Amino acid sequence: MKHKLKLVVLLATVMAVPVAFAQGPGASTYKAKCQMCHGPDGKATTPMAKMMKVPSFDASGVKKKTDAALIKAIEEGVGKMPAYKSQLNSKQINDLVTYIRVLEKK
Ligand code: HEC
Repeated sequence: MKHKLKLVVLLATVMAVPVAFAQGPGASTYKAKCQMCHGPDGKATTPMAKMMKVPSFDASGVKKKTDAALIKAIEEGVGKMPAYKSQLNSKQINDLVTYIRVLEKK
């Protein structure tokens, strides 16, 4: 009986890890502000993304860009991408960059 309980606890821990990872810092801001254009996985597959010709984070060379360059793009906007400086604080923007790095790897 005790043994079984241990197994349940272990399973719950293992299963909680990917969820925590997927919802890490930046995820909720991303969902609220970025997902409609960049898609839930950053691959820009939403109708809005297609309409606006948003590049996927894989294809747009974002991987090769520095965090500072991405922060600047989010703060000031690029092309059709709006600027977020007035809506998001620097912690939120940093968290978004961290989240983009997670999405890039998928
Ligand atoms: C209205 C649609 C739209 C929304 C909302 C949007 N983006 Fe973008 N984003 C774009 C487009 C279009 C580009 C491509 C810009 C270009 O290269 O001309 C882009 C490019 C980017 C890039 C790449 C910049 C670069 O230097 O290559 C990053 C990073 C990015 N977006 C992050 C975000 C984040 C984070 C959010 C949410 C705070 C967000 N975007 C919200 C449309 C959007």
